[in-house]
Amino acid sequence: MAGFEDESPVIYRHEAENEDIAIIILNNPPVNALSKDVRVALARHLETAIDDDAVTAIVISGGSGRNLCGGADIREFNTPARDVKPMTRDLMNLIEDCPKPVIASIHGPTLGGGLELAMGCHYRVATATAQVGLPEVLRGIIPGAGGTQRLPRLIGLGPALDMITTGNPVDGEKAMELGIVDALVGGLRESIEFARQVVADNRGPRRISAMKVPGDAAENAKIVEECRAKLTKTARGLLAPFHCLESVANSVKLSFDEGWEREAEISRVAMVSAESRSLVHAFFAERQVTKIPDIPADIALRPVSKAAIIGAGTMGGGIAMSFANAGIPVTIIEASQDNLDNGMKRMAANYEATRKRGRLSDDEMTARMGRITPSTDYADMADADIVIEAVFEEMDVKRAVFTEIDRLARADAILATNTSTLDVDEIARTTSRPESVLGTHFFSPANVMTLLEVVRAEKTDKDVIASVMAMAKAINKVGVVVGVCDGFVGNRMLAPYFRQGDFLVEEGALPQDVDRVIEEYGFRMGPFRVSDLAGLDISWAIEKRRAETRPADERFSPLLDSICQLGRYGQKTSAGWYRYEDGRTALPDPVVEELITARSREMDLNRRPIDDDEILQRCLYSMINEGAKILEEGLAIRASDIDVIWLNGYGFPRHRGGPMFYADTVGLREVYDTLDRFHRQWGDKWQPAALLRELANAGSSFAEWDKGRMG
Ligand code: NAI
Repeated sequence: MAGFEDESPVIYRHEAENEDIAIIILNNPPVNALSKDVRVALARHLETAIDDDAVTAIVISGGSGRNLCGGADIREFNTPARDVKPMTRDLMNLIEDCPKPVIASIHGPTLGGGLELAMGCHYRVATATAQVGLPEVLRGIIPGAGGTQRLPRLIGLGPALDMITTGNPVDGEKAMELGIVDALVGGLRESIEFARQVVADNRGPRRISAMKVPGDAAENAKIVEECRAKLTKTARGLLAPFHCLESVANSVKLSFDEGWEREAEISRVAMVSAESRSLVHAFFAERQVTKIPDIPADIALRPVSKAAIIGAGTMGGGIAMSFANAGIPVTIIEASQDNLDNGMKRMAANYEATRKRGRLSDDEMTARMGRITPSTDYADMADADIVIEAVFEEMDVKRAVFTEIDRLARADAILATNTSTLDVDEIARTTSRPESVLGTHFFSPANVMTLLEVVRAEKTDKDVIASVMAMAKAINKVGVVVGVCDGFVGNRMLAPYFRQGDFLVEEGALPQDVDRVIEEYGFRMGPFRVSDLAGLDISWAIEKRRAETRPADERFSPLLDSICQLGRYGQKTSAGWYRYEDGRTALPDPVVEELITARSREMDLNRRPIDDDEILQRCLYSMINEGAKILEEGLAIRASDIDVIWLNGYGFPRHRGGPMFYADTVGLREVYDTLDRFHRQWGDKWQPAALLRELANAGSSFAEWDKGRMG
């Protein structure tokens, strides 16, 4: 008999006081994944319970761990361990075949293979706060261990399709309502009582595979078609949701065994798709991003439990809300009472809008606003662990503010600037403690956007970087370490992408052509629609500032200038690159087309039809090339960090993995050769990055380069 202190991956408990019930406890931290050792031991313990005449029922539990089971072991993917018998999908059938009732005791997040395991059991009980779901679709695959066949049999086709095609989990209570679980329990003790009751009631094993999907054939066929119609709209360009649909639909048309076989076939196809590889890449890239090669993981952190923000404008307000939302008190400091009042009003209105939509309770709204203390006195930053400056984007203003921060902030405080274009090193130099200064580049709206570029300046201390990375996590952001350069990583790569949009239009395309190609690729909006939404006046102001330093021989499109001169600033003025009759729908506008063709004439350009491939390549490869230069210059740690930036800050389609991963899937040879061709054709800024040439010549990839960098 084993105890909890046991280190074996699965513990068998059969105790005097529970002689009738065998308890099998998964003991494979952190998430009780179904590694080969777990599978083998689980199967063995099941045999023991079956052979023991004293045992009348079996409870499978996650013991005192975080959950019952986190599903397949991702570390085993693409390794021989995955094929060790019983394989995950066989294990569920093995459990279901057991002649004695098997009860899954669910607590914590029990997703994917975890829920499939529970559905292999004959009954399921769960705590109210447990989470169950089949999120495989979010990794580009389908539930491959019976999930697509068992869930519809258990809860009906409609609810099963909903859960499997969206990947959304439900909590214990909702699972009870849907019929996924048979009872809500407080914990293991009550699960044992439930098992005993099953035996007392003589209910025996209830095998889901032997059930029929509820509802008649016509009704179910209609549900399938409705789901297909919905996915055609919501899952444009994706494969996995349709794979899920196909497999779940089989649960109605085919026997369990046939549906189960088909599930394996569809699963194999999905598993090797570019979509699945991209989504898995995105998942690992986001885990990897916290690792900074020269900063030890156990470095002592400066805790951030109180913040001060200088400037209550668009960004300052959003940043303050991010802290307040995470339970961290924050003081927001403005130069004038009026601006402070306006800032506070904007934050209150923002919370109020969320409350009205039913997404925030009255109490929570009051609590969050209560964590934001307004002030016009700089001295109120004195007790803050971090001071974040978000004042006007002017070096003189920033300098003056940092002089004050240097005078008033605590000696061990972290000093951050939210600048988007200014030199963080120069800002740091205005203080007596540049080692405590860094950039925190939030994205707008800062309370919503998850990306945070953590800008490591020349002198920034390691513990400052590590502390801000930890803080990012605490305020629900994805922090990515970047170096100091114009635009940092994201905006620097955005610039050539937008430039190509303008040039394509000068040469023969129209904004709607470029946007369509980019949207078909998977972005929610193409560059012109995005610009209209963000407001053209902002980019116009930046263009004007840049004009002073732009080399005379550099190609530049004045189209934005022409459009803004007509007072067309985008959606907010109902006209920009498009016109907007209802305030939202972008409609192609002959006025813009006329401006564009006039510009082409002025440049002596014979407008030509530009095919979709060229549009996509010019927009994406220009961005990828800039990314490669950023890596070369050491301004991002890994190519996958750049992907994380684009996935979280710029709406890069997740199923493409990010720009650098996409380049790998195309093949760097192909990307390099195309860039080289563009360079010969147009010169200008098309010079391929040396790193790209090197990797292409070596037949290598950004992924390989990343591996080399991490040792
Ligand atoms: P904003 O103009 O909305 O807000 C700036 C605020 O700072 C104003 O409320 C102003 O009264 C206040 N302020 C000015 N001087 C001050 C001083 N000496 N002491 C205290 N408060 C002072 O500007 P926004 O958009 O919030 O930008 C702030 C910073 O964030 C800038 O550095 C900007 O480049 C950066 N940023 C802006 C993004 C955006 O999308 N708006 C995105 C990322 C960074």
